Amino acid sequence: MPVVHLIQPDGAEVRLQAAEGKSLMETAVGAGVQGIVGECGGSAMCATCHVYVEEPWLARLPAPLETELEMLECTASERRPNSRLSCQIKLSAGLDGITVRLPESQQ
Ligand code: FES
Repeated sequence: MPVVHLIQPDGAEVRLQAAEGKSLMETAVGAGVQGIVGECGGSAMCATCHVYVEEPWLARLPAPLETELEMLECTASERRPNSRLSCQIKLSAGLDGITVRLPESQQ
């Protein structure tokens, strides 16, 4: 099972065991992690699951689809080159150890 590391804006780190095939957003929301909302349920329509993905995992993710790129225009916190929607990140063994930083705000 892949392990996911989520770093809060204050530096606090949450470590989760994830089920393969679930999205990072589903994993975080299911565990009650503060800072990921997932308002639209994962259909790339709200941008409240915005995260900053650390390397080397950023380079291992599939390129964002057009719908994700459009929603990344609407993030509450600054969009950065490593901004992604966590509902579009499907967890797999290849992403074991993935580390993301949570933005200051999602809404
Ligand atoms: S949960 Fe709405 S865009 Fe990801």
